[in-house]
Amino acid sequence: MSHNSFGHLFRVTTWGESHGPAIGCVVDGCPSLIPLTEADIQGFMEKRKPGQSKYTTQRREPDEVKILSGVMVDEDGVQKTTGTPISLFVENTDQRSKDYSEIKDRFRPGHADFTYDAKYGIRDYRGGGRSSARETAMRVAAGAVARKVIPGVTIRAALVQVGPHKINRNNWDWAEIDNNPFFCPDVEAASLWAEYLDGVRKAGSSVGAVVEVIAEGVPAGWGAPLYGKLDTDLTAAMMSINAVKGVEIGNGFEAACLTGEENADEIRMGAEGKPVFLTNNSGGVLGGISNGDPLVVRFAVKPTSSILTERKSITRQGEEVDVMTKGRHDPCVGIRAVPVGEAMMACVLADHFLRHRGQIG
Ligand SMILES: Cc1cc2nc3c(=O)[nH]c(=O)nc-3n(C[C@H](O)[C@H](O)[C@H](O)COP(=O)(O)O)c2cc1C
Repeated sequence: MSHNSFGHLFRVTTWGESHGPAIGCVVDGCPSLIPLTEADIQGFMEKRKPGQSKYTTQRREPDEVKILSGVMVDEDGVQKTTGTPISLFVENTDQRSKDYSEIKDRFRPGHADFTYDAKYGIRDYRGGGRSSARETAMRVAAGAVARKVIPGVTIRAALVQVGPHKINRNNWDWAEIDNNPFFCPDVEAASLWAEYLDGVRKAGSSVGAVVEVIAEGVPAGWGAPLYGKLDTDLTAAMMSINAVKGVEIGNGFEAACLTGEENADEIRMGAEGKPVFLTNNSGGVLGGISNGDPLVVRFAVKPTSSILTERKSITRQGEEVDVMTKGRHDPCVGIRAVPVGEAMMACVLADHFLRHRGQIG
């Protein structure tokens, strides 16, 4: 199974299965002399880890990250990157394989069971193995390293829709993100979602969501036309997250409904002698290159496939069966996808920063 790596100059490879002893990643290409400790990474792991609220899976994983290589304490007593591969890992401590024994020979609808089996002739039925979103923990770890490569860039994400319920953008307040279990920037939407998701959870059902990721502080000029466009790489990175079914940049699909007059972002000279875009319909990218405005990426996450209602399926032997996925699952995986989206944005931007420096100096 190849294709476990992404990025060019800042390159991340992840390894491990949901029910193996550990999962990890190797970050290759991180520049030297960047202060880096486990504590710098752990805060981001906490945001993604399961069991944070009744709206996320009750799997108990401490997700304590360890740095195995690529750092050294410098003469000034500060631990810094050495420029060599940074290897990170997290132990899997809550793998109850027997929760999955009933679906050993059954393909769970909405999961990668059938396709893995069709491709490899073998699949890890214990929670999906490599296809499990457990892997996204290491994306978050790599993303924490990436943020240190681009300290001038602020990357934040929010949940902006749960099922059919969208936030009111007039209520957007970043300070609210940490005040509710949904990373929701709208205090009113958060309380509505709490009630709504309680009902979904109690019914053993699930719903989808939309996550918005915003990067501020990216200067004009990052991105590499034509086949390494910044928006190409951002959308590919977001689409690679488990359960993501749609990605848009700026006003995305809404652009199809607008006229040229409405959509093109007009330009004026700002007070500091720098160009100012009067709107940001482009989402901060023109011709695959950043224009200095915030980068805005949204992605749609499908409803959690593991639900407590039987669904039609088949076994590996071709027998028709009904499958109900027991175990511990999230009513809306979009919640835990928020820190993962931030991490993917960070990795892509760290890579493009280094690629830009390599080309322009
Ligand atoms: C953070 C996160 C957690 C997830 N947890 C679950 C889960 O508990 N149950 C589930 O059915 N799917 C979960 N998923 C989604 C599955 O991993 C995913 O749907 C499945 O592997 C099939 O891949 P695909 O939906 O990308 O095609 C999660 C996704 C993310 C991003």
